[in-house]
Amino acid sequence: MTTAWVTRAESPADVPAVRSIHLAAFETPAEADLVDALRGDPSWLPGLSVVVTDPAGRVVGHALLTRCSIDATPALCLAPCAVLPELQRSGAGSAAIRAALRAARDRGEAYVTVLGHPDYYPRFGFRRASVSGIRVDLDVPDEALMAMTLDEARPLPAGRIRYAAPFGI
Ligand SMILES: CC(C)(COP(=O)(O)OP(=O)(O)OC[C@H]1O[C@@H](n2cnc3c(N)ncnc32)[C@H](O)[C@@H]1OP(=O)(O)O)[C@@H](O)C(=O)NCCC(=O)NCCS
Repeated sequence: MTTAWVTRAESPADVPAVRSIHLAAFETPAEADLVDALRGDPSWLPGLSVVVTDPAGRVVGHALLTRCSIDATPALCLAPCAVLPELQRSGAGSAAIRAALRAARDRGEAYVTVLGHPDYYPRFGFRRASVSGIRVDLDVPDEALMAMTLDEARPLPAGRIRYAAPFGI
């Protein structure tokens, strides 16, 4: 059965639920702590922390876009994304990510980067970042670093990704 996932911007009341989702989805509290640190950081952008709810209104997943840059060009970093383990692989994560990307486009943002599984993120339009000359100061597989433009008139710039301080990169 296909669930009718609903997405919306995070509200202050969602903060504990978002933390619980990251604690449940990841092996350590690192991602939950990262989200909380980003909330107090200048890289946090209103409306780009997106929650997905089930039809009853329970928050079951989260996707976050925060400010980074590609050299000096403002861009967004998609991280972290998580869905409650019992509801993974039923479309909730995709719904949250698509909604976050739409919200970013509506704000006039163009460039989004992600470090993640190369089998998952291309469905949203992400491509290997190194093809565009985008790199990162981390020892990660080349195919794990991906990027996309939300505006075909603005092709991806080349350069090194500079992450917000809470990422510790
Ligand atoms: C990754 C995550 C957010 C995806 O959300 P989701 O609701 O489970 O995913 P969806 O149902 O929207 O999409 C399902 C698809 O994603 C794929 N997928 C899910 N997690 C994946 C992973 N870690 N690696 C590769 N593919 C993955 C599934 O195989 C499925 O592919 P298919 O449609 O070709 O069958 C969720 O699985 C999760 O919270 N995982 C644990 C935390 C994590 O690894 N987060 C990502 C790093 S920030």
